Amino acid sequence: MRALLLTAVNELQVTTVPDPVPAAGEAVVTLRAAALNHRDLWIKLGQYAGLRWPCIPGSDGAGVVTALGAGAPAAWLGREVVINPGLDWGASAAAQGEQFSILGLPRAGTLAEQVAVPVGQLAPKPAHLTWEEAAALPLAGLTAWRAVMTRAAVQPGERVLVTGIGGGVALFALQLAVAQGAEVWVTSSADEKIARAVAHGARGGFRYTAPDWAQAAGPGRFAVIVDSAGGAGFEALVELAAPGGRIVLCGATRGNPPGLTLRKVFWRQLSILGTTMGSPADWEAMLAFVARHRLQPVVSSVLPLAQAAEAFARMERGDQCGKLVVRMAT
Ligand SMILES: NC(=O)c1ccc[n+]([C@@H]2O[C@H](COP(=O)([O-])OP(=O)(O)OC[C@H]3O[C@@H](n4cnc5c(N)ncnc54)[C@H](OP(=O)(O)O)[C@@H]3O)[C@@H](O)[C@H]2O)c1
Repeated sequence: MRALLLTAVNELQVTTVPDPVPAAGEAVVTLRAAALNHRDLWIKLGQYAGLRWPCIPGSDGAGVVTALGAGAPAAWLGREVVINPGLDWGASAAAQGEQFSILGLPRAGTLAEQVAVPVGQLAPKPAHLTWEEAAALPLAGLTAWRAVMTRAAVQPGERVLVTGIGGGVALFALQLAVAQGAEVWVTSSADEKIARAVAHGARGGFRYTAPDWAQAAGPGRFAVIVDSAGGAGFEALVELAAPGGRIVLCGATRGNPPGLTLRKVFWRQLSILGTTMGSPADWEAMLAFVARHRLQPVVSSVLPLAQAAEAFARMERGDQCGKLVVRMAT
């Protein structure tokens, strides 16, 4: 099969590799589309824990089950599926266990024509989605679900701020919070991305690159803030949170905050909630909600597998507004 192979830091090629062979209890999915997450870029840049070369990255995919390993239920054969990229979550709903891993490192991922996964990772492809939209859903949809619904438990009518709305997780957080009945505001580096967010139900937005943006957004105004950037801008989010507010954090694209005035956190009764991916229960609840509300993942662009390197370049430049999808030839 053809696959995108990373052989060292920043060494990326589309090449021919052996087809995956399903182990007992596994299925081979012949992928119709895959999608990038920032994780894939961190891996390419050599900035991710547990790097191993060569590796086929990619956590998101949708396709058709074309082979089964011993003991895998025959009913899966020929089914159109999406793949849950979170493997071995563990027994606790509160946090993943030590065996937890994410498809696309160390296990071979979805930026390939085929991928082998345990059948427990499969779910029927949501009927209202195209292949590209279905491939865009899993990792970012699951992460946003747990952040917005499980951890922050956003309620109808609450005022929510989602930062960096061009990002894959951020756009899902916007869509989920809007569908939940919240009043959602966004931040971005670009006015056109704010305009797109408004088209997806945001009330408005603020350019986080403007020096006085937090003042304009309104200190103490947001019941919930969803962030994955961290960095120097995090202190402003603490200011923007309403007394008793929740800041839910799933990433640190801009690194650690250089300083954080802890008095503002404890005096104002804030909760800072960490979140990562989601449990199998989160996955099932997310898929049911997406189907019920007919949510459509925002696809920024679609490229063929042969041009997957360009998809990585777009993510590195931050050009995207939504998910970068890679289409397979099959
Ligand atoms: N813990 C988990 O399970 C988990 C899961 C998924 C992602 N993540 C992490 O979450 C982050 C986002 O992932 P992704 O896949 O959604 O990435 P992505 O699609 O590449 O989005 C990154 C976005 O970050 C925004 N951004 C950059 N600098 C910012 C700043 N200073 N303030 C606010 N926003 C800023 C940009 O928004 P604009 O384009 O609007 O400016 C950009 O589009 C990454 O750090 C990733 O590793 C964690």
